[in-house]
Amino acid sequence: MTGDSDRILIEKCLKRIPVLKGLSDSHASQIIRDFNILRIKKGDVVFYQSDKSTDLYIVINGSVRASLLNQEGDEFILATFGNGDFFGEMSLIDGRPRSATIIAAEDSLLGVLRRERFLDAIKNDPMIAIELLSALIQRMRVTDETVESLAFLDVSQRLVKLLLQIAKTEGEKDKDGFFRVKKLTHRELAAHTGASREAISKSLKALAFRKIVLEGEGCFLISPDADST
Ligand code: CMP
Repeated sequence: MTGDSDRILIEKCLKRIPVLKGLSDSHASQIIRDFNILRIKKGDVVFYQSDKSTDLYIVINGSVRASLLNQEGDEFILATFGNGDFFGEMSLIDGRPRSATIIAAEDSLLGVLRRERFLDAIKNDPMIAIELLSALIQRMRVTDETVESLAFLDVSQRLVKLLLQIAKTEGEKDKDGFFRVKKLTHRELAAHTGASREAISKSLKALAFRKIVLEGEGCFLISPDADST
């Protein structure tokens, strides 16, 4: 059941979603009625890779990650979705099993839309399909960049690239120009870079020796020269 306060949240959120923001008022109110709400806790799995389901999900509040997992439980993170992002569009479009596992990165609120309802929305408003294509192309560009890193950069270079990306969005600079980034576990760094935990430990030691990445109290300190690594 979706309550009034949830609907207000969905309405606010829909207005921020590029794929749906072009909807006319009447189509927007229709689609808002069609959403169900799912509350999930950090670590919960929304669905697993290979599951057969076709709903579309929208992150109303919180964040989830799309990951590939192997038999040993090692994780490779394909993407992280935050407020206003959607996921689950691949199985919705081609009807094949889920391409990745979705795990809550924090306690989150998701909107869930049945495939038929989304297809109705596209029929009513074909601009949604164009916006969706544009979002998919953007994801493909990011994936190409990830493949490029995996193909051409070694683990230390991938680590530095990841830490610099985090630094640029949420890092602070200290008085010596070092970026301060919240510490991630070796497991998390491995999941982000497609490396083993052993390779991460080795690379962090080598980077610390070269004074490129230092481990501080609860944070990594990244040298202003890291860019040229
Ligand atoms: P679907 O295959 O239905 O379920 C898993 C979802 O993870 C998928 O839809 C996309 O929403 C998302 N996903 C899978 N691969 C990628 C990727 N390379 N980049 C971004 N998102 C992805």
